[in-house]
Amino acid sequence: MKEKPAARVARLREEIRRHEHLYYVLASPEISDLAFDQLMAELRALEEAHPELAAEDSPTRRVGGEPVSELPQARHVIPMLSLDNSYNEGELEEWHARVVRALGRAPAGLVAEAKIDGVSLSLTYRDGRLASAVTRGNGEVGDEVTANARTIRAVPLRLPDAVPEVTVRGEVYMPRAVFEELNRARRDEGEEPFANPRNSTAGTIRLLDSRECARRRLHFFAYQVPRIEGRELARHSDALDLLAAWGFAVNPRWRRCTELAEVHEFIAELGAGRAGLPFEIDGVVVKVDDVAEQGMLGATSKFPRWAVAYKYPPEGVQTRVCGISVQVGRTGALTPVADLEPILLAGSTISRATLHNADEVARLDVRVGDTVWIAKGGDVIPKVIAVDGSKRPGDSEPFAMPLACPECGTAVVREEGEVAVRCPNRACPAVLRQRLLHFVARVGMNIEGLGERSVDQLLREGLIGDAASLWQLDFDRLAALPRWGGLSTANLRSQLDAARSRPLWRLLVALGIRHVGERAARVLAARFGSLDALSAATEEQLCEVEGIGPTIAASVVAFFADPASRSLVDRLRAAGVDPHEEVAARAEAALPLKGLTFVLTGTLSEPREAVAARLEAAGAKVAGSVSKKTSYVVCGEEAGSKLAKATEFGVKVLDEGELRSLLADRGVTWD
Ligand code: IVH
Repeated sequence: MKEKPAARVARLREEIRRHEHLYYVLASPEISDLAFDQLMAELRALEEAHPELAAEDSPTRRVGGEPVSELPQARHVIPMLSLDNSYNEGELEEWHARVVRALGRAPAGLVAEAKIDGVSLSLTYRDGRLASAVTRGNGEVGDEVTANARTIRAVPLRLPDAVPEVTVRGEVYMPRAVFEELNRARRDEGEEPFANPRNSTAGTIRLLDSRECARRRLHFFAYQVPRIEGRELARHSDALDLLAAWGFAVNPRWRRCTELAEVHEFIAELGAGRAGLPFEIDGVVVKVDDVAEQGMLGATSKFPRWAVAYKYPPEGVQTRVCGISVQVGRTGALTPVADLEPILLAGSTISRATLHNADEVARLDVRVGDTVWIAKGGDVIPKVIAVDGSKRPGDSEPFAMPLACPECGTAVVREEGEVAVRCPNRACPAVLRQRLLHFVARVGMNIEGLGERSVDQLLREGLIGDAASLWQLDFDRLAALPRWGGLSTANLRSQLDAARSRPLWRLLVALGIRHVGERAARVLAARFGSLDALSAATEEQLCEVEGIGPTIAASVVAFFADPASRSLVDRLRAAGVDPHEEVAARAEAALPLKGLTFVLTGTLSEPREAVAARLEAAGAKVAGSVSKKTSYVVCGEEAGSKLAKATEFGVKVLDEGELRSLLADRGVTWD
């Protein structure tokens, strides 16, 4: 007999929860992603057909809801304290000695845990259901982010045990791979990248739009049960076991120790493997295990006396900051940059490192004269990660971001909800220069022979102004300039001629429309075919295009509504820069790779992001890791573990040549 809908819904929910736990908490899935998606689809269909069966804690309710205008504030029943820091064995021993003095004996046991570099979150469950999620805030009052927390798969929406009320605390974090993917996409769209995973976690968990939060794939580790009604937990380690039994993700990197020496060992072991972890940790938290002893030790107004953080030294090399300069980017954003005493780092000499934005400078409190640690980020751009306070000169002063643009003197602005401070002057010479550099760059119109030096020279000589003026260049005057002998001038002339027939997507990227990177540009080019058609599109029409969301749509419309960009486009057109492409008859035809998932590994003939953008524009998904659901693994030179995974899962492996023929078969051109 066929199962009744109510029974089937209940069974599906239970099954899905079990698979979520296997996948997100235990990282050992039993079924393929496809099979999982099918269970979800069945549940969603049943819930739609039988609205009376809807439930708040159904796994279908993790997708996020309508955006809100602000986050409500909520008071913590138990304040969220911070931790006192220690930086070496000696300081840890001093903490231990204070504990022993206060208790009159050694504590019965200690627990050492990895200190995850994320954002702490306090979850309250009532009658076994997730009731609220609140950020730390000032420790007393935080932001209520329940809708966002519900999208984190490692946060159970219900507990197997209907305790009347329990508070669970832990760390929300962004795995390194997710962070790097997010920053790649942001850079591609002309957005400021986040400084580090903690920064992007803080920004993401406080998003007003929980659907965007769902897309960012945050993770969560539970590490504390400060309050549980109707039950006694004698030890902190019991709480960790209970959390794991309830289905929370508990970081397995913790150890119960009886002696401080074992804690030192744990710190050394974890420190050695730190760089290889899929998420960032910044130290080890050491806690007194026995809850009664914790009570005897109590807390100061800021920290519990029963716990302490041991902070690892930052990963990187040390050098001195000789100065801090401020660069103005293509969007007018001001980026502080540290000028460094040159130092060798991972094979290259570094003399500058980004400080990202005013918030990051303030957080690090970097000053001229400071000795700092620098490291290469995942994206290989060197960054300042910490200041060595012990080497700070006595007379140093905090750095303040300028209130006026360092290039044109216009007062800077900071838009609501943005980290970047911007120069609003569209005629700012620095902005014009950066826009021009972006226009001719490899990702844009790819005009060889126009590097930074040449562009600066041509600007200085007044030979060019904006992008369109490149095609009005006075070649006689150019040929008379130093370094522009006959051959270089002729080369540039033929480059500019050839650029007239660059594909439309390149021109769209080159124009620097906000949020339009290579992926969106390819989609728009395939759908609209010309600047004319694109400029006539309404926001609604743009939103209808698969892969184009409201942010991109609004930005495209704003771009073409702006008289300055319209004039630029008109002058480009007059110069013969107006590519037309055949428009795909149906939206589907523009996505010949729809339904396929690719994983790229090893060195390819182009940067992996560029290859990924081509695939995505044709409708494919590009994932960071291999699963059973992966359609193809594309292998370049020196491919590593992903290739092994592909073999393990029986996923088809292509080399670049095979990828190109697969694309050709499906009518996807390489340029
Ligand atoms: S216990 C009373 N355990 O570190 C203090 N905190 O620097 C309770 N953190 O605000 C915190 N991993 O955001 C604890 N395993 C862990 C942790 C951890 C990361 C964070 C947490 C806290 C900060 C203090």
